[in-house]
Amino acid sequence: LNTPLIFTGAAEIITGRHTDERGVLNHSAIAIADGRVAAVGATADILAQFASAQQVDCTGQVITPGLVDSHTHAVFGVWRAAEYDMRSRGLDYMEIARRGGGINASVRDVRTRSESELLELALPRLEAALASGTTTIEIKSGYGLDVESELKLLRIINALAERTALTVVPTFLGAHDVPLDYRDRRGDYVRLVTDEMIPAVAGEKLAKFCDVFMEPGAFTAEETRMILEAGRKHGLLPKLHADEFENSGAAELAAELNAASADHLGAISDRGIQALARSDAVATLLPVTLLFLGKTGYAPARRLIAAGATVALASDFNPGTAPVPNLQLAMTLGCSQMRMTPLEALVAATSGGAKALRLEDRGVLEPGARADLVVWQVAGHAEIPYRCGFAPIRGIWKGGKRL
Ligand code: NIG
Ligand code: FE
Repeated sequence: LNTPLIFTGAAEIITGRHTDERGVLNHSAIAIADGRVAAVGATADILAQFASAQQVDCTGQVITPGLVDSHTHAVFGVWRAAEYDMRSRGLDYMEIARRGGGINASVRDVRTRSESELLELALPRLEAALASGTTTIEIKSGYGLDVESELKLLRIINALAERTALTVVPTFLGAHDVPLDYRDRRGDYVRLVTDEMIPAVAGEKLAKFCDVFMEPGAFTAEETRMILEAGRKHGLLPKLHADEFENSGAAELAAELNAASADHLGAISDRGIQALARSDAVATLLPVTLLFLGKTGYAPARRLIAAGATVALASDFNPGTAPVPNLQLAMTLGCSQMRMTPLEALVAATSGGAKALRLEDRGVLEPGARADLVVWQVAGHAEIPYRCGFAPIRGIWKGGKRL
């Protein structure tokens, strides 16, 4: 057993649980022991209870749970700046995809690369995520789109867990796009996903979730339902890219299928908002994507919150639409573009993300939770999203160990 550690003097401790004043603790301290939070409370009480503990002086700083990035596509080969150039000349993201670029450009590239090469490319990207406060990251496959390449990506994602301090959660996204050679027989591709990929992924226990990009131009509601139901039969929990650019009732389908989350939601309808609010599906917002694509259709965060939905913020890190693994920037946009409060943004990027990943043991600083925490060099929590694009981090502890 390790000696307990206590964090004292912080201007604020953000618990990650509440979006009102209960979520901001002043004059408080945290004790951690054996990789878990042992106690959170008034400094005098914690000092008395853990008299022999080593102290970490956090005077003038803010402590939050480690950030949980619940939506990334972090394993890929080359960057796709040529498309950025094309979009600057007026070509739309989905139009580039229809012409065989976009996701399929990454697919062509990934298929040529070895497992070890892709793994080495991903490692510094995960270090960058960590450097902006992320301690748990979800990573999707979806740049393989054939049985072997999808399994290759998921094996890499699982292997990454052994090579980084971050917790890595794998998601199978064989239905990211219809590969070019299946464009005139898409039914065959859906059957490949349901009858071959899903059983193989589940057989090797390579993923926790099954995701689908449901969007006009990608997968229809019927196809999405078939794929997510096949996934569930094999023990993969459903998740969707939903109503990103155009409304297609994807949020409603997420609620109906009891998905873990519905992600993007830039074009969610009122019915979709109500459906998500009544369900356990987390509404995961990915504003960096819209910023990067130069679009203005941000998800209606305020209406989702008012309706009672659980909201998460994630980075969507990928080479096409969000080429930076920075959840702090997502929080900034949550506040600047979607009118979330800084505390709501922090809760969305911690316990919201954890709920979207169905991880009960993190995203909050409460007794029993994993001791994943970030000490920020800021005077108050609003300064975290405010410091747009720069993460003023003093230190990160993961499972109780300083990184
Ligand atoms: O979440 N929308 C679909 N998937 C990604 C983009 C992936 C890519 O363009 O490579 C997203 O934005
Ligand atoms: Fe995505």
